[in-house]
Amino acid sequence: MCGIVGAIAGRDVVPVLVEGLKRLEYRGYDSSGIAVLNGVEVRRVRRIGRVAEMEAAALEKGVAGQLGIGHTRWATHGGVTEANAHPHISQGVSLVHNGIIENHEEQRERLRGLGYVFESQTDTEVIAHLIHHHLSHGSADVLAALQAAVKELTGAYALAVISAAEPERLVVARMGCPLLVGLGEGENFVASDVSAIIQATRRVIFLEEGDTAELTRDGVQVFGEDNAPVQREQHLSDVSLASLELGPYRHFMQKEIHEQPRALADTIDAVINAGSFDASLFGANAEAVLSGITGIKILACGTSYYAGSTAKYWIESIAGLPCDVEIASEYRYRQAFADPRHLVVTISQSGETLDTMEALKYAKSLGHTHTLSICNVQESAIPRASELVCYTRAGAEIGVASTKAFTTQLAALFQLTVVLGKLHGKVNAEQEVDYLEQLRQLPGSVQHALNLEPQIAAWAERFATKANALFLGRGLHYPIALEGALKLKEITYIHAEAYPAGELKHGPLALVDEAMPVVVIAPNDSLLEKVKSNMQEVRARGGELFVFADQDSNFSASEGVHVIRTPRNVGVLSPIVHTIPVQMLAYHAALARGTDVDKPRNLAKSVTVE
Ligand code: G6P
Repeated sequence: MCGIVGAIAGRDVVPVLVEGLKRLEYRGYDSSGIAVLNGVEVRRVRRIGRVAEMEAAALEKGVAGQLGIGHTRWATHGGVTEANAHPHISQGVSLVHNGIIENHEEQRERLRGLGYVFESQTDTEVIAHLIHHHLSHGSADVLAALQAAVKELTGAYALAVISAAEPERLVVARMGCPLLVGLGEGENFVASDVSAIIQATRRVIFLEEGDTAELTRDGVQVFGEDNAPVQREQHLSDVSLASLELGPYRHFMQKEIHEQPRALADTIDAVINAGSFDASLFGANAEAVLSGITGIKILACGTSYYAGSTAKYWIESIAGLPCDVEIASEYRYRQAFADPRHLVVTISQSGETLDTMEALKYAKSLGHTHTLSICNVQESAIPRASELVCYTRAGAEIGVASTKAFTTQLAALFQLTVVLGKLHGKVNAEQEVDYLEQLRQLPGSVQHALNLEPQIAAWAERFATKANALFLGRGLHYPIALEGALKLKEITYIHAEAYPAGELKHGPLALVDEAMPVVVIAPNDSLLEKVKSNMQEVRARGGELFVFADQDSNFSASEGVHVIRTPRNVGVLSPIVHTIPVQMLAYHAALARGTDVDKPRNLAKSVTVE
């Protein structure tokens, strides 16, 4: 979704802003813009479409300066137009904003009454006028005006502001949306996401809720909610530049699919090295918390929700604890029953999905005290609001359609399951060794599955011409069928649905005819015979089956039944291995259809709005 970058330096900041915005493109956006202060004049360039178009326009106009802000916008209030793109300007005050201002209508009326003229339909423009109003009514400088203005806003914001009259400072504010400050030598930066400034510095300060800050070339001062100066810890970001570049791959999604053996190996590294599943993986206090809980509630959105849905099967069967999984946007708005002895687990790749964050806050308000976050982004909002944390080590995920984040979430959830199983007396030493061995083999099995790419690409050619597809799975592999259908619809725009194979006869069978490809995830497990009967039901109606079986499954291809075999069955970790083929199927079908694989239409990577 929307992205922010800003810089104050002794050099021209336009290349920094443009590069930062390009690195934020993956989040999803529909327009972009920059405002740069050169001496006393603010120059603004905005364009709908790609950052490259805005960059070309900035070059053509010769925009340059040592202080500036930039933004990628994902339309919420007001359509995709240049007038609605950020930065917004109110008589010398320029600003970019992420988030949503809830009382913007009321503020707009008030500001209109004060003589302000609005040029856009955005909630953001209200803030620009409000800051200007404070500047011209007693605020000593743009920082004081910003601090006064935010007190009158309700909603969520990350803001970066410059004023034509104050070329020596860049001021920022944060509430409900991520914002961090990057510390350079004689230059400082601000961004909504560390990837936007990683080319300039790794030293970062994560602003906290209610913080404002002033950046000059030589220093940064952060202020808390009461406007008193505060010290915030410096961090060294571990996001690498290489993880943000495409390298030899055509798309980030392809790169990220192929990075999975490495991402999984990194995520399980601590357990493998220790030779045991230790509660300390989840934090210093984890053993006491995890031993005392009596159940698990998982909250997440999108692909992360499917990771949670898979974990439910593991947690109930291996750790013997009740587990329920809920879509965060549903949970946060219902009168939920809260058992404080249950651990609330949020799963979020980005750590900033608004619905998941709000669901976590809601769970706490209902009396939950024990919370654990599984997240891929260090120090992001959701882990910071959680008691226990487990970071997946997938590295930056750029493709909107989640791949390596999902499989590493599964690996982390499996580790959580075994830790819980040990603490609750359900996993003995022998079983632990066995799970450890299965985990050790996981990256290799995933690599095996990746080797199936040529066969899957050939299948994908056939999918590319279809309008619909059905995915079936049972048990542990039902969530993988859901994930396969989601991947296909996200990046190919083919309508795809997933069902537990046993549900077929209760409705979806009516859809099956010669035109309907049916993908079946059919590992060699205790449910295989049941799945085979479900496949017969499809064949009998003329449906074409595309089956992902295991090397050791006992059935073969026949008329209308195509089979690809993943490596031999890997037991409880099989859902992770079986995810790889469905990711590759979606990727290659998208290639064949010529869609924008990494930036599918209408979707965003980090959904920071409702
Ligand atoms: C968006 C992304 C998905 C992701 C979901 C949840 O819809 O496009 O890939 O699964 O958000 O995001 P999170 O960062 O919370 O895992």
